[in-house]
Order: sequence, then structure tokens, then C-alpha cells
Amino acid sequence: MAQLWGGRFTKETNDAVKAFNDSISFDRRLYREDIEGSIAHAQMLGAQGIISAEESSMITQELAAILSDVESGALVITDEYEDIHSFVEATLIGRIGDAGKKLHTGRSRNDQVALDMKLYTRRRTHEIRTHLYTLLETILGIMEENTDTYMPGFTHLQKAQPTTLAHHLGAYFEMFKRDAGRIDDCLKRMNYCPLGSGALAGTTYPLDREMVAEKLGFDGPTLNSMDSVSDRDYLIELMSALSLIMMHLSRFSEELITWNSNEYRFVEMDDAFSTGSSIMPQKKNPDICELVRGKTGRVYGDLISLLTTMKGLPLAYNKDMQEDKEPAFDAIDTAQACIALFSGMLATITFRKETMRLSAVRGFTNATDAADYLVVKGVPFRDAHGIIGRLVLYCIDKNKSIEDLSIEQLKEFSPAFEEDLYDAVSLRTCVEKRLTLGAPGQAMMREVIAREKEWLQGWHGTSSDK
Ligand code: ARG
Repeated sequence: MAQLWGGRFTKETNDAVKAFNDSISFDRRLYREDIEGSIAHAQMLGAQGIISAEESSMITQELAAILSDVESGALVITDEYEDIHSFVEATLIGRIGDAGKKLHTGRSRNDQVALDMKLYTRRRTHEIRTHLYTLLETILGIMEENTDTYMPGFTHLQKAQPTTLAHHLGAYFEMFKRDAGRIDDCLKRMNYCPLGSGALAGTTYPLDREMVAEKLGFDGPTLNSMDSVSDRDYLIELMSALSLIMMHLSRFSEELITWNSNEYRFVEMDDAFSTGSSIMPQKKNPDICELVRGKTGRVYGDLISLLTTMKGLPLAYNKDMQEDKEPAFDAIDTAQACIALFSGMLATITFRKETMRLSAVRGFTNATDAADYLVVKGVPFRDAHGIIGRLVLYCIDKNKSIEDLSIEQLKEFSPAFEEDLYDAVSLRTCVEKRLTLGAPGQAMMREVIAREKEWLQGWHGTSSDK
């Protein structure tokens, strides 16, 4: 198959060079965007009188037919072509002859590939946005049902203070909410059309760049043709946002893996979202969480790969940039699958509320509250801290909780202890008195959930799928 650029050459390309240079094996997935971009370009060429109206409509009609033939499977994209652009153009010329040869007027593959990749990335980013919405909705649903599901909160993975499942998951809601904002920033910044930039310095044809940008749903055309053909920032920015999403999913996965362990037993994963062991019949493994955690490294790698590819490139287009596609595709595919699978897993998980509650009761998570109790009774905080420390040590030795001791036993540690201590350090009191903004007390939590819900609905409503 002759290349688009064969004219200047007198020899066939070496086979190994062709295989090394070709990108069709991975850029074939841009077929839809390549055709959509070409249709907009051909319409504009016709409107500007650069090609005739008849040629323009012949081209656009046949491009639409090529698109539906590829989609139906009637037309197969084969590896003989150098890239997706060559495939579409060659197929067009094969079908309509000379008119097809006019499609590439005023265009270079440099602005063409920049456009294709942007259109593709924008479409996939909107898909990711939708999956993120489902995840946020799933988390919020669990939060609403668990404002009084008590559990220990941890620092250093040691039981620290009591909290609720709603509060714990609310932390992830906030993380993914920030991710949602980052995804929207990416969409906003990427939405400028590079087509019409030519190879690097624009073109002498009277192109209407505004028209093309509008047809393709962009906010406008880009303003510097050299930047347009060599900008891959938006991919790096998206991969950074995806890396953060993966980092959050990975932390969440790690917690669920711990909670699912025999030692914790805070959760029970649904059979449909777990796997077994080929040798150990008792096993039910949290594979989705482990894979999400594992794939996080892969998405980071994709980000670093493109950052490194771009760091030494002079303006404008360089073939190095062809290396943007595989990491970008991989990061998008991986993150999208992880968000979707994780949401499904989370929606079907069972939380063992009683196990969680008992874990909070048994872990001295009320020690801070016991110290605060003494402070209210007039004991200076530093002394109170010491008294409760000694009390905890005693309880550990006797295998008891603070509230298991009689008032006489307690008074041996401090005369300030009275009967109202038991209510003051009960799990319910410890949680429900925490009512500062962002704290787990149920009244506050319900207020925060209402705010998160309002935000989520508003955010969902602003989606404008392109
Ligand atoms: N396959 C190329 C890429 O992905 C398309 C652009 C080729 N441009 C060129 N001047 N060789 O970047």
C-alpha cells in the first residue's frame, strides 16, 4: 500500500521501518473522530468555496458511509495502512476518485491527529464523568443509610476515636468530588479546536476555523498554530486527574481489603464481586479491590511516560508525539474500568454493623472523651490525659473497657469520676456530641449529606455530553 507521501521517494520503505513507524495498530480506534473531523473540514472547504459544493457533499456523504460501514463491520480497518488518517483518505479516494483527493486541502496530519485525539479524549472524559457520578451517588447512598453505624476511626491504623460509616465514606465522597472538579477543568481547557493549524504555520487557504470549531462542539479555535499541533498538555492533565482518581480508589480499596480480612470482618463482599482460590476452599478474595490498587501503578506509569516523552521536544510536531496514544488510551481504559467496577462492588457490599460497633467499643476509642469528661469536672487537661492513660493501662491488663469498671474502681484513679461518666463515654455520646462542621455527629452528618446531595445534583445537571 502506497503511503500518502510516496511522491518524493524512489524506494519502498523497509519492512521493519514501516512496522516501526506505523500507528494503525493503535490509532484505528480514532476512526470515528477522524471521519467526524474530516466531514466538518470538507463542509467548511465547500462553504468557503475552496472546493465546489458538489465535491464537498460527495466527500461528506461518502465519509458518512465509510463510518457506518466500519461500524457495521462491512469495512475492516487493516494493518496495511500507515495510520487511521491514511486509511480513511485512501478508502475515500478508492470510492469516489478525484473528489476524494481534495479532502486534505488546507490540512496536515499534524492538525488532523491533534483534532482526532482531542475529540476522542473529550468523548471518553465525558464517559469517565458519568462513571464518577455513579460512584459518588453510590457512596452518598451508603452514607445516608449509615449515619448511626458506629465504627472506630483510625490514626496510624490504631483505633483512635469513634466515628460512623457515613463519616468515613464521606471522606471519600470529598475526594471524588474534588476529582469531579478536576475532570471538569480538563474538559474546559481541552475544548479548543486545533484544526486549521496546518502542519505548523497555518495555511494560505481562506479556512473558516470558527465554523469548524463550532460544528465539532468546541468553545472556539486555538490561537497559535504551532502550539495547536504540539500541545499534549490536555492529555497529561487528564492523566494527572485520572492518577488522583486511581490514588483515591486505591486507598479506598486498601481499606476494604483490610475490612474484609478475617481479623476485621467489617464487610462482606458480594459473591458476584469476589473470587475464590483454586486450592484453599475457604477463600473469598477481594480481587476487585486488589486489582484496582494494582492498576493504580499502571496509570501513574502512563502519566510519567507521556510527561517524559514531551519534556525535550522542540516546537512544533515531532514523531515522538505518536507515543501519546498508547499511554493515554491505557490510562483512560484502565481508570474507566476501575471506577465502574469499584462502584458495582461498593453497591453490593454488606457492612457488618455490629462487628464495627463492637470494634469501636473495645478499642478505647472513648479515651479522649473520658479525658474531656475530667476536664469538665475541673481537672487540667494534661493531668486528665495522664489519669486516663493509667486507667487504659489498667483496663488492658484486666481485659476490660473503661465503662466496665465500677464507680469505686474509677474513683481510685480520680475522685472527679461520678455516675454521669458512663453516659459521657458511651459510644453514642462520643459520636453524637461531635457536632462541629465536618464531624460525625448524626445531626451534623445529615446536614453535610444534604449539602453533598445538592452539590451532586447540580454537578450532574451541568454535564453537556459532546
Ligand atoms: N500517526 C501520527 C501521530 O500519531 C500522525 C501524525 C503524523 N504526522 C506526520 N507529519 N508524520 O502522531
